[in-house]
Formats: sequence, structure tokens, C-alpha cells
Amino acid sequence: MSSARWVRFWNTEPDMSSGPLLFLAPMAGVTNTVFRSLCKELGADVLTTEFVSAEGILHRNERTRRYLEFQPLERPLGIQLFGADPSRLAEAVKAVIDWVSPDFIDLNFGCPVNKVVSRNGGSALLKDCPLLASVAREVVAAAGSLPVTAKIRIGWDSRSVNALETARILEGEGISRLAVHGRTKEQGYTGEADWRVIGAVADAVKIPVIGNGDIDSAAVALQRLRETNVAGLMIGRAAMCHPWIFREIRSAIDGGGAPEVVTLRMKWDFIFEHTRREVEWWGGKEELAIRSMRARFMSYTRGLPGGARLRERLQQVTSEDSLRAIAEGHLLEYGDQPV
Ligand SMILES: Cc1cc2nc3c(=O)[nH]c(=O)nc-3n(C[C@H](O)[C@H](O)[C@H](O)COP(=O)(O)O)c2cc1C
Repeated sequence: MSSARWVRFWNTEPDMSSGPLLFLAPMAGVTNTVFRSLCKELGADVLTTEFVSAEGILHRNERTRRYLEFQPLERPLGIQLFGADPSRLAEAVKAVIDWVSPDFIDLNFGCPVNKVVSRNGGSALLKDCPLLASVAREVVAAAGSLPVTAKIRIGWDSRSVNALETARILEGEGISRLAVHGRTKEQGYTGEADWRVIGAVADAVKIPVIGNGDIDSAAVALQRLRETNVAGLMIGRAAMCHPWIFREIRSAIDGGGAPEVVTLRMKWDFIFEHTRREVEWWGGKEELAIRSMRARFMSYTRGLPGGARLRERLQQVTSEDSLRAIAEGHLLEYGDQPV
């Protein structure tokens, strides 16, 4: 691993001259300000909001305001936008800079969800390179001195893998950094991320490329860094289940000893802390906050002993007290073992 590629991209970013940056992947319904802050505390270097529609920003609706909330400790923080109309996106960029003053804007060219694709947003732009170029051009112009980054998939389907072409176009239009998820739109989340394509993109452009897809341990992270010239790694689903992964990867990169082993008690304490902060974020509306956390509970408990029965009980939970009761019962049954 040469150190030349581990550069800070702009002034607001941590100086990581000794190693690659670790990114928390944007995940709709998951990476709100509460979860992002927790990941930052566990070693994620750069955070991005989940995707936000340009129209939502222009209409300043309440749901969008919630998506855009962040804490000062989350900086450098990017707002991820999606849309298909270059001039509306450009207007939205100006509005969002004015509204919340992010550190960078990230363009979503990877979302496979039908609601987005059918309106020509997200990964639909991978099929329309002229439109992709004009979205990037207008957004870069609208952002002025603020960096604009992008996140792509490697192509629409296996017959049209065009990540090298889209990466070169985006670089040419002034995109500062590119995250590449190594799957096609057609794959959704099935199959495996193709890291050969990610590596080829990293070799083909001068802007920093961040590799994304299936990093679920420090060992896999190190392997990807060895095999490719990516400037950083982006982690999504593994962080949803085990947010300590950032700390574990950093420790492996630094060549230090193994970080503290995560135990069942630590995991429950983390779940309580996440829940406490979520309730606070929901203005004390405990039941509402906990209902919104149920999918998080499912991720956190994946792979835990007695998981199926545990998850059944967690589907019914409505208060912090009942969550604690479930946890105490679980710890009593299985003890404080490494997880
Ligand atoms: C629940 C969920 C929501 C996602 N939402 C977004 C999103 O809003 N914007 C985006 O660019 N990618 C989104 N993604 C894709 C992730 O950012 C990431 O590219 C993908 O999960 C692959 O990385 P991983 O293997 O580390 O999970 C989402 C993925 C998941 C699982």
C-alpha cells in the first residue's frame, strides 16, 4: 500500500496521511443523524445522509428537514441528492447549501429502487451518459467552491457494465471523488460486488475512488486495499449489524493489536444507547422511536445466540424498559460471550 494515495481530499476532512478514509455508506431508513454519530464515534471518517430528493429540498417539507439534520461532530458531512432534472438539481443544491451548510454534495447514480429509476433518477442515469454528464456539470457549477462527489454502480446490467466510461465522464465534469458499488442495477443486492471493476476504475481516473460492496470484516477490507488502488472504503450493511467494524478496520490498517473484542453485554449497551438517542431525536416520543428502531434491532441481533426467538420478542417491543428486560433475559441465558 503506497501512502501517496491516502490524501485528504479537502480542508474539512481529517488528515489521513497514514491511511485510507473509511466511509459509512448512505442507507435510506438507516443512516440518520443518530446512527451516523454512533458510527463516527466508532471510527467512521466520512458520513453522508441517505438520499434526499431534489424536489423534497425545493419544497422544504418536514420529512426532508429530518433527513438533513446533523450534529457538528458529524462533519465532514455530505448531503446525498437524487433527481434527473439537471436544473432542478442545481436549484436544490443552492437551496441545501443555504439551508444546512454541508461539507460536500454527493450525487446518487446508483439507486436501483423502481420509484426512483422510473423517474429517471439514481441508476437510470447510468444508461443515459449525456444526461449524467449534464447533471454533474450543472450541480458542480451550482455548488461553487463546495466539492461534489458521486456514487455509482458499475452499470445497468451485466451486458452494459460501463463504470469506466461513467467515471471518466464524472471526472471530466468536475466531480471530486467517486464511490463505486461493485454491482449492477440489475443485481440489486444479490451476487457479489465485482472488485475487479472497482480496481479498474481506480486505475483509470485521477480523482480518489472509494470502493464499496461486501466489506464485512477487517480482513476483507485489508484484502481490498491490497488488491486495488482505491483511496478509501465504504461500508454499509456490515455496519448496520456490527458498527465496530470501522474501529476494527482502522486497527488492522495501523497494524496494531486486535481491538477490544465485542461482547454480548457491549452489544446490548450499544443497542440501549442507540435507542436512548433515537427517543431523544423523536422528542421523547418513546413508542414512535422504538417502532422506528425495530428494523435496527433485527440487524443488530443477526447471528446472536437464540436469534430467532429474540427477534420475535423484539418485534413487539414498545418501550426502553421492555427492551432492557429482553436484554437481561438474553444475557442471563447466554452469558457475556464474544459476538
Ligand atoms: C437499506 C439500504 C438502504 C440504502 N440506501 C442508499 C441510499 O440512500 N443511497 C445510496 O447511494 N445507496 C444506498 N444503499 C446502498 C449502500 O450505500 C451500499 O452501496 C450497498 O449496501 C453496498 O455496500 P455494502 O455491501 O457494504 O452494504 C442502501 C443500501 C441498503 C442496504
